[in-house]
Amino acid sequence: MDSLRDKVLKLAKEKNAVILAHYYQTSDIQEIADFKGDSLALAQHAAETKADIILFAGVHFMGETAKILNPKRKVLIPDLEAGCSLAESCPGEEFAKFKAQYPNHIVISYINCSAEIKTLSDVICTSGNAVQIVESYPKNQKIIFAPDKNLGRYINEITGREMILWDGSCEVHDILSAEKVMQMKVENPDAILIAHPECTHPVLILADFVGSTTAMLNYTKNSDAKKFIVATETGILHQMQKDSPEKEFLIVPADETCSCNDCAYMKLNTMQKIYMALKNEQPEIILPDDIMTKAKTPLLRMLELSSK
Ligand code: 13P
Ligand code: SF4
Repeated sequence: MDSLRDKVLKLAKEKNAVILAHYYQTSDIQEIADFKGDSLALAQHAAETKADIILFAGVHFMGETAKILNPKRKVLIPDLEAGCSLAESCPGEEFAKFKAQYPNHIVISYINCSAEIKTLSDVICTSGNAVQIVESYPKNQKIIFAPDKNLGRYINEITGREMILWDGSCEVHDILSAEKVMQMKVENPDAILIAHPECTHPVLILADFVGSTTAMLNYTKNSDAKKFIVATETGILHQMQKDSPEKEFLIVPADETCSCNDCAYMKLNTMQKIYMALKNEQPEIILPDDIMTKAKTPLLRMLELSSK
């Protein structure tokens, strides 16, 4: 009898569906994906696919992004409840009022936001291209950056800008404590500390390297170091260990009671839910046409700027 994994692969083939997965998915899901990546690579891939169905093993805003870039294709996500604390920290109505206080500013939004926030944005960025996108504007351009204050603060520091920041954060990265990181550094003096820019400033200043999911993967692959302290979501370890089986990776735990920091939203997806989603072609991402049209412009601008 076919395993669940085989059934998923068979169904995806029959329906001409492409399975896209973020690196924060569980290992079994990463292993069946046709393409896995960080937010930027996934958006780029979604923009180019010719499949009839996109099954997005990620969270809701990622499915929305794929739909906005492919309004004619069916986009499925395994669980509609797979949201994102960062996207939820920036409600549309409140953000519109915030934006109105800064009339001469453009809005650069991190892709981890709702389609509604994208309609209020001039350009989107991911952690993989944020510096490049911000630097594509003249130094005197006034900018609002939303929704992640930690990433925004980090980009301000790198680029010397003074972007106005929306006060949002990712609950997974925001909780990682500098004290815990410090303790791990003391206990592992031979380890290199790498961190995602969604982490807080006290963690980032301790890091030897700060970068997006893909940047961290490339860094560990190319580094001569043998041991790394990793300050981000635990799903990244699957690919890291696969790329460098001889190296040791220590994840920074969320708190004393927990040995890992999983994104609860990302981890709602399971192989069974992927199978059911492909079988029933549900749940499907549906967005109003006017929202898709307005949100597409800043997304296309991002893709254009990051291909330069
Ligand atoms: P990247 O994939 O851009 O590194 O972002 C991480 C993240 O939090 C995705 O939700
Ligand atoms: Fe959102 Fe954070 Fe989960 Fe990424 S890790 S999906 S930013 S809650």
